[in-house]
This record gives sequence, C-alpha cells and structure tokens, in this order.
Amino acid sequence: MKKIDISSNGYIFNSLSELEEEDRKLIELAAVARKKAYAPYSKFNVGATILLDNGTIISGNNQENAAYPSGMCAERVAIWKASSEFPGVTVKKIAITAASLEYTVKDPVGPCGACRQTLYEYEFNQKEPIQILFMGETGKIIKVESLASLLPFSFNSSFL
Ligand code: THU
Repeated sequence: MKKIDISSNGYIFNSLSELEEEDRKLIELAAVARKKAYAPYSKFNVGATILLDNGTIISGNNQENAAYPSGMCAERVAIWKASSEFPGVTVKKIAITAASLEYTVKDPVGPCGACRQTLYEYEFNQKEPIQILFMGETGKIIKVESLASLLPFSFNSSFL
C-alpha cells in the first residue's frame, strides 16, 4: 500500500482588497450577475463570471423553476453560455459569489459537484487549468488553481 495525497492546491484571502485586480474585477462582476439571479424558491442567489483567454468576460446566474429539478446553477449557466458563444476558446478563470435573501452568507460557497464535473470537462479538453475563485456575500475568498484539484479521481472522456 502507498499513501496518496488528494489535498487541494489553493489560497484563502481575507477580503477583496487582497486579490489581484483581475480577480477582484471578476468577483465584482459576479456580484452584479448574482443580483440578477432568478431564484424565487431558494432565495439563494449565485453569480458566476468566466474569463476567457481572448479577454471576453461571460456572466451567469442561477435560474430556478417551479418544477425544482428543472432549474440550473449559475456556474453551468455561465460555462455553457461561454462554450456556446465561444466554442473551443480556453477558459482561464471562474469567479463565484453567493448571497441569501434570508441571512448573510459569510463563508465561501464552493461550486456543487455537478458544476465541478461540468467545468472539469472544459479543463480536461483544453489541457490548461481553470482557476476558481469563490466567496459568499462578504468575508473570505478561496482561490483554487484547477478543477482537477477540486475533483480528484474525476471521470473524463478518456474512459469512454
Ligand atoms: N446553486 C448554484 O447556482 N451553484 C452552486 O454551485 C450551488 C447551488 C443554486 C442552485 C439553486 O438555484 C440554489 O443555488 C439553491 O441550491
């Protein structure tokens, strides 16, 4: 038996002012997108902003539905919007922020498992890491270097 290391490679920042300008701008734009979320059922608004290698910034937010499972997370709205408008263009970063209408979200809110898997598809294909930044409404920000580090032993197209 041999021990394996599955720790994530990331950083925690105390406030937006500690971020490099590009990252701060992405989070701020994610907050703009978050405020336009359609989340009347959960009252949990999420915004996501994607920076492409060609400099384009694409935003998305969660879109809910009265038939609950028909809704969609902000991250997947954003990545599919990016892929549909700019197929094959390398994704550099995604920034995510979440806020509830019922309490102040102070802890960083990481992407759900389905969003990690969806984002990983693009990282695997482009063979370049996608950086992920995530936070609540206020408080600390976590930055992780790649989807692979958020999703160890992930499934990908090489198995098919
Ligand atoms: N949500 C996201 O947009 N992203 C995530 O990674 C987790 C959850 C949304 C889905 C739903 O509209 C609301 O947050 C509550 O789950």
